[in-house]
Amino acid sequence: METAAFIKELEEENNKLLGRLEPGEALTAESGGNLEIDRLLKIALKNELEAFELSARWIESTPEGDVKLGFARQVGDEAKHYRMIEDRLEELNVDLRGFNPIANGYGELFQYLTTLTDTVERLAAGQFTREAIALVKNRQFIELCEAKGDHVTARLYREVIQPDETYHHKLGRSLLLKYALTDEQQERARRASRKTLELAEELSGLALKKAGIHHAPGC
Ligand SMILES: [Fe+2]
Ligand SMILES: [Fe+2]
Repeated sequence: METAAFIKELEEENNKLLGRLEPGEALTAESGGNLEIDRLLKIALKNELEAFELSARWIESTPEGDVKLGFARQVGDEAKHYRMIEDRLEELNVDLRGFNPIANGYGELFQYLTTLTDTVERLAAGQFTREAIALVKNRQFIELCEAKGDHVTARLYREVIQPDETYHHKLGRSLLLKYALTDEQQERARRASRKTLELAEELSGLALKKAGIHHAPGC
């Protein structure tokens, strides 16, 4: 398939599934006390940590120079988000001493992503799809912050974090355009992308079932 047509098809398939994440109103109504901003920001720290650690792991084993640089850029951005969220939590008087975002281990999606060794799979799963999920989740989180009157956190997400995550998604797209050329590569990209959506806990409702968590920001 021609690469541009392939990307368009992949995006449409992703969007169909991502539609299940929106809108959040119904969930908000039944969530009880589980939508505290500080609690959700602590989950965001875990997501940011997993994002920069994943990209960092991939830098060394990615032969293509421009993809390597893309992952390096992402490491920096996600680490910056981590610090900014920590600062915001401190402003909210949350004591982070002794807090370990991965005290309960890495997420299932992270563990799957670390098994990918192929550049096209990494781009499709880790950047193009994972970051598309983040964009939807962050949009919902911004709405939630505004609704709760936390305009400072909303602005942090709207003005700094969300533009970076958009950039990561777009970087995945432009690099896939360059590297997902053969039918075989495109099929691998498609499979990795589907698996990513499948494992995104928010999409399967698993996070909600396990811990009553939803509307947590992504990365
Ligand atoms: Fe990101
Ligand atoms: Fe991030």
